[in-house]
Amino acid sequence: MKKSQLTEILGRLTLEEKVGQLVQLGPMFFSKTGEITGPMQAMDMTQTELYQIGSILGTHTKEEVLHIQETYLAEATHGIPLMFMADVIHGYETIFPIPLALASSFDPALVRQMASLSAEEATAAGINVTFSPMADLVRDARWGRVLESNGEDPLLSSLLTKAYVEGYQGDSLLDPKTLAACVKHFIGYGLAEGGRDYNTVDLSDLMLYQNHLPAFKAAIEAGVKLVMTSFNTVRGVPASGNKWLLQDVLRRDLGFDGLIISDWASIHELINHRVVADKREATYKAATAGVEIDMMTDNYQHHLVALVKEGLVSQDFIDTAVLHVLELKNELGLFEDPYRSLQNRPLASSSDLQARLRQASRDIASQSMVLLENKDHLLPLKTTEKLALLGPLADSQDLLGAWSWIGKTEDVVTIESGLQAQSEQLEVIKERHDFVKLKQVDKVIVALGEHSLETGEGASKTDIRLPQAQLDLLKEVYKWNPNIVVVLINGRPLDLIEVTPYCHSILEAWFPGSEAGHAIADVLFGRVNPAGKLPMSFPRSVGQVPISYNMLSTGRQINEHNETQKYVSKYLDNENTPLYPFGYGLNYSDIRLSDVRLDDQGDRLSVHYRLSNHSQEAGQEVVQLYIKDLFTEVARPERELKAFEKISLQAGESKDLSLTISAQDIAYYHSDLSFQADPGTIEIYFGLDSQAAKVGVWDFQGE
Ligand code: NOJ
Repeated sequence: MKKSQLTEILGRLTLEEKVGQLVQLGPMFFSKTGEITGPMQAMDMTQTELYQIGSILGTHTKEEVLHIQETYLAEATHGIPLMFMADVIHGYETIFPIPLALASSFDPALVRQMASLSAEEATAAGINVTFSPMADLVRDARWGRVLESNGEDPLLSSLLTKAYVEGYQGDSLLDPKTLAACVKHFIGYGLAEGGRDYNTVDLSDLMLYQNHLPAFKAAIEAGVKLVMTSFNTVRGVPASGNKWLLQDVLRRDLGFDGLIISDWASIHELINHRVVADKREATYKAATAGVEIDMMTDNYQHHLVALVKEGLVSQDFIDTAVLHVLELKNELGLFEDPYRSLQNRPLASSSDLQARLRQASRDIASQSMVLLENKDHLLPLKTTEKLALLGPLADSQDLLGAWSWIGKTEDVVTIESGLQAQSEQLEVIKERHDFVKLKQVDKVIVALGEHSLETGEGASKTDIRLPQAQLDLLKEVYKWNPNIVVVLINGRPLDLIEVTPYCHSILEAWFPGSEAGHAIADVLFGRVNPAGKLPMSFPRSVGQVPISYNMLSTGRQINEHNETQKYVSKYLDNENTPLYPFGYGLNYSDIRLSDVRLDDQGDRLSVHYRLSNHSQEAGQEVVQLYIKDLFTEVARPERELKAFEKISLQAGESKDLSLTISAQDIAYYHSDLSFQADPGTIEIYFGLDSQAAKVGVWDFQGE
């Protein structure tokens, strides 16, 4: 449909019908099933109003969508089809690893593949829009939603956010296997004070532009269709009623011209923030700020019409917002086919699709794990070795993570069955009195971690250690047999200070998804050489958080000469550094960098290097280039990742390669928010994690 036809439809709508397009409700209004993840308001709606709403959140099945759309179109006088939205975060029915795990792959292509496959599965169940990716920058492991993030680095997060959008949206939304993407949460949600979900956020404009906007900018440049506002305050005003944020930053500076949707009830919650008195004022504040769809409340439904009639909310805002809704429906092809070929699509659960998705889930999960320790090369295991398996996660199917609301836990491959499928001699120890058997085995695998309810939304913690019972179990096992491999299932960086002394190897498996057990076995037995790198620092103690590799220097930076002095920036009872830094992860090969050489080309700098695999194991490494700008107008981070590349090497293979950065990569936001690169000295660090050695300087003369 042409734009002029959309304008024509818009012109035919009554004010009430227009407002309806800006209302989003759950499927329970039409059918009996549906998800509820937040404060559901009692909505006093008429039938007429119901058949005017614009979109539905959280349907589960193809039948449900067909039924709702049919019923709706039979009743709706305006003839505009509904749009179906849902949280397809890391898979739909087939679950892939959590986003923090996907980020560990440092591999945008892998994320793109995951997003494209989840779109294929979710659209086969009638979903049109996903509330993903989450581009919130995170530094605080207490916050349960770090699981849904790309971690602590703006560059990594930007590249992955872009990959999600490209994967979901494909080349054209007219392809019925694509989903429109909604980047969230705009903005600063990851900075919730104390790591407590929904808590206050206060961030400087400089921090906002430098660290938090880039991933949203990347999503917008990739053509993301929707932006979701966050629950938190920004400059003291909740994002869902923040005109400066939505108009000056999102619309003007980032140039976003798609749809702006609230988070679940976040318009209504302006009342709880005490910046408005009631629903009418909440509606006024959100609409005049520019929020276009009200997710899951009746604020817009019951107050917007009157506010327009009284001249308090402009007709222009309503028309533009509705046009945005109509445009998206049109791009999805809903006017031509409200079902997007749904009747002809195989069921999401069809065996062909499932086989393809499960294989991809297994491959992607094994690529997302991070080998944190491997003393004496205890891993990989040999299939002929005598092995024992124990621990609370050994036979658990709770391996999907907190955002797998439609994933089938009963179809998850446990660690036990995954290992059993590959090991010739596996003893599963269920009782303490069987610990004596641990003496007879070569190696012991201990599966530890978090419950899925301990991570995700509304799952903040003040203690990020493993439960005491798990630590006691590990110490007990260690007495019987110290050849221990710990497999960790969790959704956040943990404090592992009490784990590392009691094992040889630690495999951070995160929440790996539907094929968890097979993927873990693939890595443990060396079918897959681990290649993941940490996208978030693992602290030595919860007292260090928020922590990230890219902190500012401070005026009293600690160094080897002053570390015993009192008045330096340090802790009395711990180090400043994390236990495992950003970008860190081991593998089974012996891959080394050599012949590093800088080549200054004026407005570009190349780092030439040789990467050699000195082992008999084919493997992958992520080479990482960090900068430190020595003198800057505003305080800048100690280090910033500016380029990285994942390289595969055969056994014994060497490659001569290079990474290049340009003046644009060293530009930064100044105090007046201008973005430019200053002439000056840039230190270059290059290596295999964020603690990489300095390899030289770039004397940048200016552009
Ligand atoms: C609340 C969450 O904050 C958001 O990320 C999610 O997309 C919505 N609920 C919809 O379920």
